[in-house]
Amino acid sequence: MKIGIVTGIPGVGKTTVLSKVSEILKENKVRFKIMNYGDYMLNSALQGQYVSNRDEMRKLPLSTQRELQLIAAKKIVEESITLGEEGIAFVDTHAIIKTPSGYLPGLPRHIVEILSPRVIFLLESDPQNIINRQSKDRERIRSDYNDINVISETMDFARYAAVASAVLVGASVKVVNNREGDPSIAAKEIISSMS
Ligand code: AP5
Repeated sequence: MKIGIVTGIPGVGKTTVLSKVSEILKENKVRFKIMNYGDYMLNSALQGQYVSNRDEMRKLPLSTQRELQLIAAKKIVEESITLGEEGIAFVDTHAIIKTPSGYLPGLPRHIVEILSPRVIFLLESDPQNIINRQSKDRERIRSDYNDINVISETMDFARYAAVASAVLVGASVKVVNNREGDPSIAAKEIISSMS
């Protein structure tokens, strides 16, 4: 089974692009699974009554975030094993998380070694487009990312973090532009990079 990790800052369009990936792979009868890391963390966080929504997770004490991060990685690998040798697992997550205590790597050594990805994707867009997209998702609370300078800085840190993680497991790092109005272009690029 091959694992592709799709990272990108909140609102860049990871989930949207991965739903296009899903459409294309279904049409081509490829065995695949798309797993949202935040969903796995949120399940445990809700069970532990640490948060009431996903945007509160990045404000939890770092030790709690790390604990949730580890549980999620183990569950994701456990569930993707069912795909068999030819299957592809895509993990929707973050190379870096902006927390009140600083930038937390989304894929530190013990996590990236568990996931062992073939490719780490950095989904990017123009920062102003990201702000516009965030404003469409009214039920989300991303005010800590709603500033062009913060977005640009986070994108820089995400690149450094993605390369650092990739070095540990020999993965490649691919920057993919999520072009305004057509997420399927990015989806096709992600699929072709997994071969
Ligand atoms: P997560 O669930 O990943 O939250 P997020 O980053 O906010 O991601 P979303 O899925 O909400 O946004 P998106 O980038 O997928 O954009 P979307 O497709 O919705 O993570 C939640 C939390 O989990 C994190 O904050 C963190 O605390 C924790 N976490 C996760 N991974 C972790 C890890 N490894 N370690 C530690 N903690 C971790 O699109 C947004 C909008 O844009 C939509 O309206 C969409 O229609 C629009 N749009 C998308 N693409 C386009 C396009 N090409 N043109 C025009 N509009 C577009």
